[in-house]
Amino acid sequence: MGTPAGTVAGAQPRDSSNPAPAAAQAAAQPLMERTEAPAARVALVGVHGFGTHHLRNLERLQAASVVRLVAVADPNPPAPGSVPATAAVFPGLAELLAETSGLDLIIVATPIQTHAPLGLAALATAADLYLEKPPVASLADFTRLGEAAAANGRSVQIGFQSLGSHALKAIEKLLADGTIGTLQGISATGRWVRDRAYYKRSRWAGKRTIDGVDVVDGVATNPLAHAVATALRIAGARTTADIASLETELYRANSIESDDTSVIRIRTSSGLPITCALTLCASESVEPYVTLQGSKGTAIFHYTEDRLTVETAAGRSEEAFGRDDLTENLLDHRTGGAPLISPLLDSGAFMLVLEAIRTAPLPAPVAEAHVRWQGTEDAAHAVVAGIEEALERAAGQHATFSELGLPWATSAPHVFNLPAS
Ligand SMILES: NC(=O)c1ccc[n+]([C@@H]2O[C@H](COP(=O)([O-])OP(=O)(O)OC[C@H]3O[C@@H](n4cnc5c(N)ncnc54)[C@H](O)[C@@H]3O)[C@@H](O)[C@H]2O)c1
Repeated sequence: MGTPAGTVAGAQPRDSSNPAPAAAQAAAQPLMERTEAPAARVALVGVHGFGTHHLRNLERLQAASVVRLVAVADPNPPAPGSVPATAAVFPGLAELLAETSGLDLIIVATPIQTHAPLGLAALATAADLYLEKPPVASLADFTRLGEAAAANGRSVQIGFQSLGSHALKAIEKLLADGTIGTLQGISATGRWVRDRAYYKRSRWAGKRTIDGVDVVDGVATNPLAHAVATALRIAGARTTADIASLETELYRANSIESDDTSVIRIRTSSGLPITCALTLCASESVEPYVTLQGSKGTAIFHYTEDRLTVETAAGRSEEAFGRDDLTENLLDHRTGGAPLISPLLDSGAFMLVLEAIRTAPLPAPVAEAHVRWQGTEDAAHAVVAGIEEALERAAGQHATFSELGLPWATSAPHVFNLPAS
């Protein structure tokens, strides 16, 4: 039986430097059209961690009568008062579904390895699904989820919220106008800091598998997944058919299973190179960015800030944009047929990257001589020697760390065998 929600403030998200949902930007948008439709009945699965961002967004939408949060599920119950009083509280999705009827939307913001079973359970109802990124932890599960959505006629939005940025339209326009000339390549650069506490925060952090179940919590598949997904979107690579080749070179400076410092090199089916050079072992965090390398200039998209900088012989310009909220977009899709911004099938290209990382050899450890630890105890974080310059060179030259001859880069590019389509 669900228990009514109590009355105290909720927990803070544990990973607040990830790009947040566009609640702040979307708050400024008119909600008038939607308020005419009955409030959508919504359930949230996973209320702590990133679930708190969804809770805040749902509170905003509930205040505008767009949604009614009728139920939440989490084995770790919400603090009293941290979810609206309208919401019944359940320990899991199965219990929630057994006692809650008429749901329009189920939002799943739980650990990666639970996405497939929870997503499939959600798709067996009449509700549409908002599934946090990365969609699932293997290509086989991605196919299964896609088949279930198609068979049940359900819509699935994947939580790559950077894809709601209005800067993407401006990028399309500048490419069509030839502002930066011919697009020759795209790179994604991510330099973040994650300390020991980050990897201690939950059992699945930094894991490739848990008890034989895929997790794939590496730098490119979780914390900096938006960098990869945004670069792919700008390149026009959406589905699995849009990728022609994929190589990975994975390293780790932390004492974890997964990679924390990697290069992913992709060629799209139209022949465009995309190189993602990513680390969680920088000396300080900077906002990640996607660079469009044109024959007459460059455009740099800081996707967490919706900020686009264009540099050509004519000079430099910078503009900040708004963002569409993916939950609102999914509701608009459900009621008015608006195209989904981040539909499941358009995560196909990203899922090939995840599959390449899942099946790649274990990440190579960066030798201690090339790692400096900043800070103490759980606040200490690894810094790979010269990582800032290494990322710039890898991204700019579409080269892996070993190809650049870096002293710590003892691995080699691993070619992923693309599945036959
Ligand atoms: N879009 C973004 O910017 C962004 C940012 C951070 C995290 N995420 C994604 O959000 C998801 C959750 O990440 P997190 O760091 O908050 O994870 P977490 O480990 O903190 O778990 C989130 C919540 O899910 C609950 N949970 C675990 N198993 C559950 C189950 N079977 N049923 C119901 N609830 C369950 C946990 O108790 C916890 O409250 C991941 O997919 C992550 O990649 C997205």
